[in-house]
Amino acid sequence: MIRLSKLARNLTPEIAFTVLAQARALKSRGKDVVELEIGDSPFATTPHAKEAGVRAIRDNQTGYGPSLGLPSFREAAARFVSTEFGYPATAENIVVASGAKPFEQYFAEALIDPGDGVLLFSPHFPTYIPNLERRGARAVLAPLRVEQAFRPQAEDVRKFLATDPRPRAIFLNSPHNPTGGVATHDDLAAIADVVRGTDTMVFSDEPYCHMVWSGRHASILSQPGMLDHCVAAYTFSKSYSMSGWRMGFAVAHPDVVAAIGKLINTAVSCSPPFVQEAARAALEHDAATRDEYMERFRKKVDRLCDGLEKVEGVGVVRPAGTFYVFPDVRPICNRLGIVSHGLAMYLLEGADDGFGVACLGGECFGEAGQGFLRFSCAEPDERIDQAMAFLPDALGRRDRIAKYLEANPQYVLKQPYPEA
Ligand SMILES: Cc1ncc(COP(=O)(O)O)c(C=O)c1O
Repeated sequence: MIRLSKLARNLTPEIAFTVLAQARALKSRGKDVVELEIGDSPFATTPHAKEAGVRAIRDNQTGYGPSLGLPSFREAAARFVSTEFGYPATAENIVVASGAKPFEQYFAEALIDPGDGVLLFSPHFPTYIPNLERRGARAVLAPLRVEQAFRPQAEDVRKFLATDPRPRAIFLNSPHNPTGGVATHDDLAAIADVVRGTDTMVFSDEPYCHMVWSGRHASILSQPGMLDHCVAAYTFSKSYSMSGWRMGFAVAHPDVVAAIGKLINTAVSCSPPFVQEAARAALEHDAATRDEYMERFRKKVDRLCDGLEKVEGVGVVRPAGTFYVFPDVRPICNRLGIVSHGLAMYLLEGADDGFGVACLGGECFGEAGQGFLRFSCAEPDERIDQAMAFLPDALGRRDRIAKYLEANPQYVLKQPYPEA
């Protein structure tokens, strides 16, 4: 019998990838599944990035590189965030890793000690807590409320700093996965006012920085003094359809950058140089394609919302950003006696033998997400329409729901969700 560590025994992985594996397994057995579970792009990687990546491989840029990233990439990234988001970064502030996600771990390892308190706004991205657990930190949750358009409140930060025995950090994620909430410039200014003058560090997770559907993305780093308090994480996965390349970077104080460089050195050595060349080309030459993709995503989000609004019992708050829609399905769950992730799994597995829709229950993002579903826009338009047309029919098949709950009693709703 293998004895795993306590961390490995208790680790909760990102459920989107588990549902993705289930959806793909069903597809391989012939089921037609519309996959709206994973936050990926249906578009090809932007053209200059693709070309530069292939060229760099041909030019044999295939060996090790500096742990912090190629100097040419770091300079390009600094120029990009300075012009795009309006804060004064230089190459010294930039460190490269395989997407935005690894920076959750590096942030925790570089800045957090066991027993430190870390404020998360919840629902939250599911890997935040496992990465805090790696360091024995305490996650402290503050709710994001639908009535406040899922925007983080400075008052919650103030309360956390005033009452926690060892407050150390806060996690922000705007635009927000899964709710689509977007923090305004004023929200961030108010939070920065609370953080400034303390030793609090902020992990500002900004993978959806080009998916703000009205106005522009605001980063807390553009608030005075915040470069000394923050690690802001960016990725090429969403803006440039490069999720499989695994490429992202963070912006932070040079001392934090150097510490993360040491962590990278001891964990993965460096990021592939040809991937960084592809990403630099994306930053420098693919803005037009990126913006065209973002416009297509905006239309897909509208399409998904239009479809969901037609389903009885579904409450839709149109997302201010991201390519997710997070509808309130509490009345449906209460009527059918099923928890929200059970409802999601029923739509995939139980509702029909030949057709299914993959999505996630809100509880995959913490208890605060209970009673909601998360749909992404990762499929072509006509497939989104097909999925939406399927929902009312699937929700009316009472015999199928009863059978599904009988076979999966873990999804029975024991107490009705409080409705809005
Ligand atoms: C909030 C949030 N953080 C981090 C990530 C991870 O991004 P990447 O795939 O670039 O590591 C995602 C991806 O869905 C996300 O939604």
